[in-house]
Amino acid sequence: MPITVKTLQSSYDIVIEKGALLRIGEILNLKRRVLVVTDSGVPSEYSNAVLNASKEGTVLVLPEGESSKNIDNLQLILKKLVENNFTRTDVVVAVGGGMIGDLSGFAASMYMRGIDFYNIPTTVLSQVDSSIGGKTAIDFMGIKNIVGAFYQPKRVVIDIETLKTLPQRQISNGLCEAFKMACTSDKSLFEIFEKGEALNKIETVIEKALLIKKDVVEKDEREAGLRKILNFGHTVAHAVESADNMKNLYHGECVAIGMPIMCSPKIRNRVESVLKSLGLKTELSYTVDELIELCKHDKKTSGDKITIVYLEDIENFELREISFSELKNMIREAAQI
Ligand SMILES: NC(=O)c1ccc[n+]([C@@H]2O[C@H](COP(=O)([O-])OP(=O)(O)OC[C@H]3O[C@@H](n4cnc5c(N)ncnc54)[C@H](O)[C@@H]3O)[C@@H](O)[C@H]2O)c1
Repeated sequence: MPITVKTLQSSYDIVIEKGALLRIGEILNLKRRVLVVTDSGVPSEYSNAVLNASKEGTVLVLPEGESSKNIDNLQLILKKLVENNFTRTDVVVAVGGGMIGDLSGFAASMYMRGIDFYNIPTTVLSQVDSSIGGKTAIDFMGIKNIVGAFYQPKRVVIDIETLKTLPQRQISNGLCEAFKMACTSDKSLFEIFEKGEALNKIETVIEKALLIKKDVVEKDEREAGLRKILNFGHTVAHAVESADNMKNLYHGECVAIGMPIMCSPKIRNRVESVLKSLGLKTELSYTVDELIELCKHDKKTSGDKITIVYLEDIENFELREISFSELKNMIREAAQI
């Protein structure tokens, strides 16, 4: 059964189906001009499956990596659409991780003031997180996701067979986001992680995480309030990401460092154990002062205060506005320094 996401204007389905790519022409309307956007790290068999099922398909392969989520590639996609005479009834299909999804979704939102967009996410992170919620963007002038739009896909197709080619480190990176949602919102999902069953039950994990995110984005499509719970662990994660300059660590790896700090002592060990079992490190490799300085530039900062998501217990969180000195103490306490 697909998951239907209701948005302010309409609704769309997320189809989760093993082997969906084999019958993609039946799941998506590809009987029109189709621009498939993918990257060089995504096995070409996935984009070819879409291309072969399309009436009039064109493919654009961009270099893999976050640095491709830029204005030049946005322009490249728009150029392809113009050159191939795409009209309002045609479609852009993203085949890849969150980088490709964010970039192509943004291009689709702009072309002729919006043409159809299908997303086929092929990383765990994009399957549980970035493909749902309608946020599209590019990085600009060194700032991540600074230019973008809310634009909903017409349909999302998740084929977990695509994860067979995904490196283990990318799998852990994505599972971290699913685990983050389990902490704030779903004891049964937390249990799957705690029992070490997340990999064996990856389809269930993806489905449960999507249901959590669906619930959040439906209630708060424009990120006015509730969506903040998705930021659990992200305050320190963003600081670690800035310190690392997006060079060595993946986003989920930074969130793994940030989560235990935002936990009550009662729950911290359990959260940490799961993260470690996923192969994620939770130790800080920066000084507390360095991190606090970077937290001051966080977009959730207002004056000398910052809003955090604090986890009292599983499924029991609160939004807290705290000072930087309180944050400093929390980091020290969690890191026992
Ligand atoms: N829109 C949102 O709400 C939202 C939420 C979270 C993250 N994001 C964005 O998502 C992006 C990160 O996404 P990501 O973690 O998927 O990274 P990514 O898209 O860069 O993909 C990671 C790597 O995996 C490779 N890859 C993808 N699928 C593969 C497969 N099936 N087999 C083998 N290799 C494969 C890619 O080539 C790439 O090298 C960031 O740009 C981030 O800003 C957006």
